[in-house]
Amino acid sequence: MNEPCLFESRKVTTDTTSLVSYIPIPGFGVLPVNAFVIHAKQPMLVDTGMAAVRKDFLGELKSIIELKDLRWIWITHADMDHLGNLEAILAEAPNARVITSYIGMAKMGLQGIALDRVYLLNSGQTLDIGDRKIRAVSPPTFDAPETTGLFDQKTGALFSADCFGAILAKPVETALEINSQDLLEGGQLWASIDAPWLGIVDPGKFKNSILSLNDLDPQVILSAHLPVATGMNSILFDNLSEAYKTPRFVGPDQQALEKMMVA
Ligand SMILES: [Fe+2]
Ligand SMILES: [Fe+2]
Repeated sequence: MNEPCLFESRKVTTDTTSLVSYIPIPGFGVLPVNAFVIHAKQPMLVDTGMAAVRKDFLGELKSIIELKDLRWIWITHADMDHLGNLEAILAEAPNARVITSYIGMAKMGLQGIALDRVYLLNSGQTLDIGDRKIRAVSPPTFDAPETTGLFDQKTGALFSADCFGAILAKPVETALEINSQDLLEGGQLWASIDAPWLGIVDPGKFKNSILSLNDLDPQVILSAHLPVATGMNSILFDNLSEAYKTPRFVGPDQQALEKMMVA
């Protein structure tokens, strides 16, 4: 794979569909980039994919749900792999309101948008979307201060934003297909890239932040950067608790990059 591409979407809980794309990470492998549709009474899109796959992403999204039926668009954080198609979707989804935090609103430049199209929700708060409550949660690792994950109290799905992501050798359908060593190393590599501050945190406090997710007892972990992980809580929690030991990632410099591109 040498460019970002969209794969077929797949059902990841009884009423959640994942829009799956992958981006190549030259020299390292591939990174999944997932968005999700929760088919709730008030349907919700979680993140909006990458602009690089816009045409395919919008086509796939429209095959899953009519955009006029979309009531909520949850933006976990304002990175381009989560925000890439927000404007295009908003233009065709007149009934959708963007859920973010105060910082997220500022970073996305949404101050100018009509107030009734934005909804501010902080970690710990819940939102009723008709047939279930969605709770905003703080993932233990993140690369942006506004990052807010969510817990679907009906399906038990935890949407963890960047947290629990992994760089993989190749695309796979579920995290269960990744061998345990690759999952550990790919996850630690991703954590060292996405959360370069991990090495300077208090390991005890960091582990407590993971335990608070354990208390939710998620049925499935839906990371933006890992294939669907069902029944893998203890593996993912254990792997992440050790991630602070991985040295901060330093990417290839210009010379190394040019060599890699030639190869
Ligand atoms: Fe991010
Ligand atoms: Fe991301």
